[in-house]
Amino acid sequence: MAPPQQVEDEAFVTLATSDTYALGSLVWGQSLRRVGTTRKLVVMITPGVSHGIRQQLGSVFDLLEVVDVLDSRDTINLGLLERPDLGVTFTKFHVWRLTQFKKCVFMDSDTMVLQNIDELFEREEFSAAPDPGWPDCFNSGVFVLQPSLQTYQNLLAFAMTVGSFDGGDQGLLNLYFKDWAYTDIQKHLPFIYNVVSQAFYSYLPALKQFGANIKVVHFIGPVKPWMHKYNTATGEVIPEPGTGHHGTFLQQWWNIFMELVQPKMDPTYLSGLAGELASLKLDASPQQPMEAVPEHERRERWERGQVDYLGEDSFQKIQERIDSTLQSGPAQAQPKPVDKSKGAVPKASRKHVRK
Ligand code: GLC
Ligand code: MN
Repeated sequence: MAPPQQVEDEAFVTLATSDTYALGSLVWGQSLRRVGTTRKLVVMITPGVSHGIRQQLGSVFDLLEVVDVLDSRDTINLGLLERPDLGVTFTKFHVWRLTQFKKCVFMDSDTMVLQNIDELFEREEFSAAPDPGWPDCFNSGVFVLQPSLQTYQNLLAFAMTVGSFDGGDQGLLNLYFKDWAYTDIQKHLPFIYNVVSQAFYSYLPALKQFGANIKVVHFIGPVKPWMHKYNTATGEVIPEPGTGHHGTFLQQWWNIFMELVQPKMDPTYLSGLAGELASLKLDASPQQPMEAVPEHERRERWERGQVDYLGEDSFQKIQERIDSTLQSGPAQAQPKPVDKSKGAVPKASRKHVRK
């Protein structure tokens, strides 16, 4: 079969405001190439992104667009979010200037694509998925837009007059496209297009049922995938405690990074974290299998109300069970006897890490 036709006037676009975010852009770009996208790949970079990393971006992306940093400098609202670093996310608005494309899908560099998402181009501006922290708002890590200089100007004027309630792009875009919550359901992207990697601890049965449908994972929060440690002997990521990032997804990010990005990185031209990661060397050696605690024993204790929050039923252990749920694929959609007395996850272990 002939390969699907490339589409010239539609693009997936991301943004790198530093060399470290560019690592995310590289994994994101490769994750889209891997699933055979037919659309152009564009990365917008700010002037501070180094020459070394630009070279590498050039080998993955169809277009590198250098843009000025737009910063909200809204310390008060950014303080509420505890994320002073997010003021520069206004830089995203430059995507409306890419008028050589009829339509774009913007995606943050801390997202990763697991399945082809070219069908997103059937949606209109402004389509996005609900933010799990406040579902009447959309999350601005993935959205469909129509480039237009007029809209770009309007957004800048809006930034001067109204501003953003979180100091970043999300708080502004939600005010600008304010009827998103109440009007066209077609503009509500399903959650599978922007699965905030911490969100489903609160709804494990849904993860079991729908986890295999996930198309995009979004690593929100201040600790990004590239900041977690990686064991070069075992090829496994060592998740930083407390970030809520999901082990399986982090591992997938690192697998793409180590297989498709890292081997092409040249430590002589890179510094900082990018330079350090460029020097990583895989050193495979046999691993001791870990012993598992029998599941039925744990469940029995749980059902007797003996929840071992610090041990077997701790956040980390629950995360491990979520990991194995994801690896084992979707649940069979067969009717099962319902016993309402048993919750899937004890309340005290429903944790959210949100920012
Ligand atoms: C949230 C969104 C991110 C956005 C930021 C600032 O963290 O996930 O896309 O840049 O808010 O508004
Ligand atoms: Mn993000």
